[in-house]
Amino acid sequence: MTAPVTNPTSAEGWRGPRGAVWLLSLDGYEAMLRPLGDALLARAALSPGQSVVDIGCGGGSTSRTAAQIVGATGVVCGVDIAPMLIDEATRRADGVSNLTYVCADAGSEPIPGAPFDRMISRLGVMFFADPPAAFARLRDVLKSGGQLDWAVWAPSIDNPWMAGVRPIVERYIALPPVDPDAPGAFSLTDRDKLQGLLVKAGFAAIDIDDWHGAIAPGGTHDPERAADFALTAFSFGPAFDTAAPAIRDKIRSDLIEFFQRFVVDGQLAIPARAWLVRAKAP
Ligand SMILES: C[S@@+](CC[C@H](N)C(=O)[O-])C[C@H]1O[C@@H](n2cnc3c(N)ncnc32)[C@H](O)[C@@H]1O
Repeated sequence: MTAPVTNPTSAEGWRGPRGAVWLLSLDGYEAMLRPLGDALLARAALSPGQSVVDIGCGGGSTSRTAAQIVGATGVVCGVDIAPMLIDEATRRADGVSNLTYVCADAGSEPIPGAPFDRMISRLGVMFFADPPAAFARLRDVLKSGGQLDWAVWAPSIDNPWMAGVRPIVERYIALPPVDPDAPGAFSLTDRDKLQGLLVKAGFAAIDIDDWHGAIAPGGTHDPERAADFALTAFSFGPAFDTAAPAIRDKIRSDLIEFFQRFVVDGQLAIPARAWLVRAKAP
């Protein structure tokens, strides 16, 4: 019998059940994260002809946009640990000649085509089993003078799309506690810790920008559909699924009520905060 995955966002979680859920929810996630991806790519200001690696590329939308920007004289390589996401990213990139995808643990395995001019990542660098070792390895994936641009979530308290949602589920269902130091979406929220990891890995010219924006779960403006997306796609989804129907109904209706507070002029816009990290390889 296969042992259950205890941390859904560990390497085995992404290779298995978490990767499968992300794939099923891919269009909703990509719509939800578009405002952050747009900010990341605007700040990165990639240029035609550059070679770019996208760490934790998921279904590949950020890699595809990067491939358009660097053009026919540039190349983009998307790297992800989840084989089902690499398969889907490859399928969606059909016909894009300057874009390749590789299934690998970016924190510990070689990346073909390295070293690159630039490295981008939208929320793909918070899940390494050994962050100091992974960051040092990623430094060597860049050419000397090469630049990284990453987006990572800032403290969850400033991200009510999660910090407000989880307690609603916990009113009715006991969820396993989140270890802030384990691989997870909110493992790099401490700006000093993040800066320290980059310094220790040997990066220079570190510049962390404080992004404030708004997102909608599933990219929808309908609170009911946003609640259904969150209860399916977020990492507590499997626990929600096992609850009794009456409990699920209560959670869903509380969540819809919560999301309705963030509807302004028909738009669901929940505050979100992330670090836009820039650094250079020496
Ligand atoms: C939050 S998702 C973001 C996906 C994508 N960047 C996006 O914004 O849509 C995190 C991604 O990182 C990938 N990932 C997690 N650990 C990884 C590792 N060690 N090496 C490569 N990819 C990893 C996951 O499989 C997942 O696709």
